[in-house]
Amino acid sequence: MDRARKNARSELAVSRSVAELRGVLNRWRAEGDSIALVPTMGGLHEGHLALVRAARTQFSRVVATIFVNPMQFDDPVDLGRYPSDIGRDTAMLSQAGADLLFLPAAGEMYPPGFATAVKVSGLTACLCGAARRGHFDGVSTVVAKLLCQAAPDAAFFGEKDYQQLLVVRRTVRDLDIPVRIEGVTTVREADGLALSSRNFNLSREERAAAPALYRVLSEVAQALAPGGPAQAALEEGRESLMRAGFARVDYFELRDGETLTSLERARPPARLFAAAWLGATRLIDNIPVA
Ligand code: PAJ
Repeated sequence: MDRARKNARSELAVSRSVAELRGVLNRWRAEGDSIALVPTMGGLHEGHLALVRAARTQFSRVVATIFVNPMQFDDPVDLGRYPSDIGRDTAMLSQAGADLLFLPAAGEMYPPGFATAVKVSGLTACLCGAARRGHFDGVSTVVAKLLCQAAPDAAFFGEKDYQQLLVVRRTVRDLDIPVRIEGVTTVREADGLALSSRNFNLSREERAAAPALYRVLSEVAQALAPGGPAQAALEEGRESLMRAGFARVDYFELRDGETLTSLERARPPARLFAAAWLGATRLIDNIPVA
């Protein structure tokens, strides 16, 4: 198939088993294709599609995965209400230029007797790792599995989940998984709210309050950029979120963007991280401090 025809095709093949996935990918590799992987949990939006499009510009085949990974949910209610519309997701992936969807059932990923976990220490002790016990063990385990199953040249992850991106980088480094990890800038709504599958759960009032998360992060980032003491500005950030209608702030912190070490003043590559609740929905976001 020549390149022009390849780019024009709109049919999205679906593999549901690891054996089937490997069969297709081995054929593509034999034909000289380069392969990019875009892991997701479905409930797709433009943020996910940005990963597919970024992959598309560099690789001849893009494989998206949809698997709502029970191992990374600490809350069964959160897992139960995770959005799922495979028809819609498939159409969006196809439109964005994906070639294949890997759609395993839970039993394919975690067959009876499954007993192994990949656990990254250090990086996972803070932020979402502290707030959501065991969450990142689930992420690093499922991502390691997906990378072993597909053996792609590269895998694409969003900066929206910045701690996850660092955990995945650490996992592939420590386990010598031969794959390049690419980070993609956060896609936002016009009002600044980072796109997230969880935004679908917000009521009208909550949706109206949600952009405060990015706005407050941006204000505090600006205040911290000159490098003065951070503590008072971080406290003010937390209070601003509560005033804007957030019910609880899990964290609002300044950390090193590579090691996640807590910082008392900004210095490159400093980053601000926040997680806060609007009603029953937990939103996260992060931005660099210039
Ligand atoms: P999910 O939340 O579906 O996100 C899939 C990928 O899309 C992640 O790399 C995430 O960072 C990225 N993403 C989400 N919103 C984004 C936005 N607004 N802009 C840019 N990228 C965005 O993250 C997961 O799934 C799972 O933990 C997974 C890695 C698939 C492992 O189960």
